[in-house]
Amino acid sequence: MLQVYPQGKCSRGEIHDKLVFRLDFRRKTSSIATSRNRRFLSTGSDIPTGPNGSAKTDKVEEAETVHVSPQPTEKLLVLGGNGFVGSHVCKEALNRGLTVASLSRSGRPSIQESWANSVMWHQGNLLSTDSWKDVLKGVTSIISCVGGFGSNSEMYKINGTANINAVRAASEEGVKRFVYISAADFGVVNYLLQGYYEGKRAAETELLTRYPYGGVILRPGFIHGTRRVGSMKLPLSVIGSPLEAVLQHAKSLTQVPLVGPLFIPPVNVNAVAKVAVRAATEPVFPPGIVEVYGILRYSQQR
Ligand SMILES: NC(=O)c1ccc[n+]([C@@H]2O[C@H](COP(=O)([O-])OP(=O)(O)OC[C@H]3O[C@@H](n4cnc5c(N)ncnc54)[C@H](OP(=O)(O)O)[C@@H]3O)[C@@H](O)[C@H]2O)c1
Repeated sequence: MLQVYPQGKCSRGEIHDKLVFRLDFRRKTSSIATSRNRRFLSTGSDIPTGPNGSAKTDKVEEAETVHVSPQPTEKLLVLGGNGFVGSHVCKEALNRGLTVASLSRSGRPSIQESWANSVMWHQGNLLSTDSWKDVLKGVTSIISCVGGFGSNSEMYKINGTANINAVRAASEEGVKRFVYISAADFGVVNYLLQGYYEGKRAAETELLTRYPYGGVILRPGFIHGTRRVGSMKLPLSVIGSPLEAVLQHAKSLTQVPLVGPLFIPPVNVNAVAKVAVRAATEPVFPPGIVEVYGILRYSQQR
């Protein structure tokens, strides 16, 4: 027989007083985990049973809260894991104990840092034939950091078509969760970068259609941090950090007609990576669109 007690420290007497309910399980049960919400109720060891299979003892240790590492079977695929945002996403996911793979046209980057040895690097073009689809086998969640600039038609393809291809293939393969790094709405700038924004919104629509429950779209504005350009490191936070500090408290300015979107606060690349990995791995993370202020808020939790 398994007894389930309320959480917290109680004396033995209190435990009995606060007994919530009894579950009359007549099978050997060592623990109940309330899946992914980090709460475990433990009986400590297998419950001895008598010859007829009934439990001999009701001995139960106190319920306790424990931190549960992600299931070892969880495998995250980062599309564009060798890019600026993608490499930070890979690092964050490895720190959280996930198995991490990356797919991009150039494959393994020249990064000499030790974390790069823990990523499975695959080479493939989301705009080309189906060869890259093998990489989806066994993947439980995807974060797409694929995007870029160029002519209008190039921008539509890389931000839109490439990600639409990925979303379709992932849902056909049964991948549970898909996170897409999109971009904030910059108002008039959208007209200057038409292909970029039209591509982003087309990919978002596909994601929301295919993944109504497991799809998350992050819409950062400018992302700052240390960006590699060849062998150089660009410290974008020199400008980004102070701007973020000021603008995150000036939300009302973003409502000003025409120029308002220019006041959207920049966000640190580590914050984007953290929220993306949370969104890809926590089943309780709400699906849908997360705007800049949401990214800032989620990144400050835990
Ligand atoms: N950086 C910002 O300030 C900012 C702001 C808002 C939103 N975003 C969005 O965040 C995402 C990541 O940005 P980022 O700055 O990290 O860009 P990035 O450094 O240029 O990374 C883009 C990644 O996409 C991969 N890629 C491009 N085309 C591909 C294709 N056809 N198939 C497979 N992989 C492909 C690239 O690798 P290969 O070249 O090896 O293929 C690279 O790893 C983008 O969607 C971007 O629009 C960025």
